[in-house]
Amino acid sequence: MYKLTGVSKTYSNGKKRVDALQEVDLTIDDGQLVAIQGPTGGGKSTLLQMLGALDRPTAGSVLLGDQDLARASAARLTKLRASEVGIVFQGFNLIPTLTAQENVEAALVPLGIRKAQRRERAAAALASVGLADRAAHRPAELSGGQQQRVAIARALVKSPKVLLADEPTGNLDEETRDEIVALLEGLWRDQGLTLVIVTHDSQVASRAQRRLQLTRGKLREAGPGKNAATRPAPAADEATTWSRPAERTAVEPAAVEPAAVEPATVEAVIAEAAPVEPAAAEADGVALSEPVAAEPAAVEAGQETSDND
Ligand SMILES: Nc1ncnc2c1ncn2[C@@H]1O[C@H](COP(=O)(O)OP(=O)(O)O)[C@@H](O)[C@H]1O
Ligand SMILES: [Mg+2]
Repeated sequence: MYKLTGVSKTYSNGKKRVDALQEVDLTIDDGQLVAIQGPTGGGKSTLLQMLGALDRPTAGSVLLGDQDLARASAARLTKLRASEVGIVFQGFNLIPTLTAQENVEAALVPLGIRKAQRRERAAAALASVGLADRAAHRPAELSGGQQQRVAIARALVKSPKVLLADEPTGNLDEETRDEIVALLEGLWRDQGLTLVIVTHDSQVASRAQRRLQLTRGKLREAGPGKNAATRPAPAADEATTWSRPAERTAVEPAAVEPAAVEPATVEAVIAEAAPVEPAAAEADGVALSEPVAAEPAAVEAGQETSDND
């Protein structure tokens, strides 16, 4: 899945230089459940941004499959984010004016998926996180745990191979934290996802197969977690989950349907409001050098393609 070699990231703000990552080497196998622990400022979010194609390293290579994210074009990275990587943040980052259903559907807009399909898939994703009965609610009408479930559904609705979660339980009380961790664990086990959870909570990290520690930009193995011996389901390509297998094989866009063809609340709001996947660093109050824009990227193979033709 991932192979990082000699990954360093240096931030320079005027005279000040911060070595956020220092020659990190890391291999993550397909379907692995990995926890990354470490103190605040240790480089966890920076590492997740490299894995999530949100930013590029200063040095080194970040292979996702056979693609080097350190060298890929901005357009390629945008496409990868839209289709292959799901990201969940501590701060949920839901669009307040959209319902839960619309927030989840929004993740499919850059893929050029038609409205009927978006509706169906968003409803299925919400059901998979136990929120079928809250689809019509806006974020303000949901509890913190429910908002995080919506954010997880939004990350999963595009059927990514990888789910990256940055402090997904950081804003939650203990009971809700345990629910969210159990949910993520269940999704990992049943859907054959590769799941990387960044956390400073050792209770959360203990659920992983493998634990890593990141301190002052240096990464080291920190031993197995409780799920070390768990064998998850095969990747969703083969499994009969709600995620649809066809899109795993989708590579090049046949034709991108402009969002304007289907004027609807989701597109309208996205056009003038927040990006679908706000930069990871925003949760920490820092701006990224390369903002993440929602742009039409790829059209899936299968049913939608024939719809669009
Ligand atoms: N965009 C940025 N510009 C400048 N410095 C940054 C930026 N993002 C992170 N840093 C710095 O890099 C270091 C690692 O930050 P981060 O990856 O957010 O750590 P963690 O997620 O472990 O708390 C910190 O010293 C932080 O201040
Ligand atoms: Mg962080």
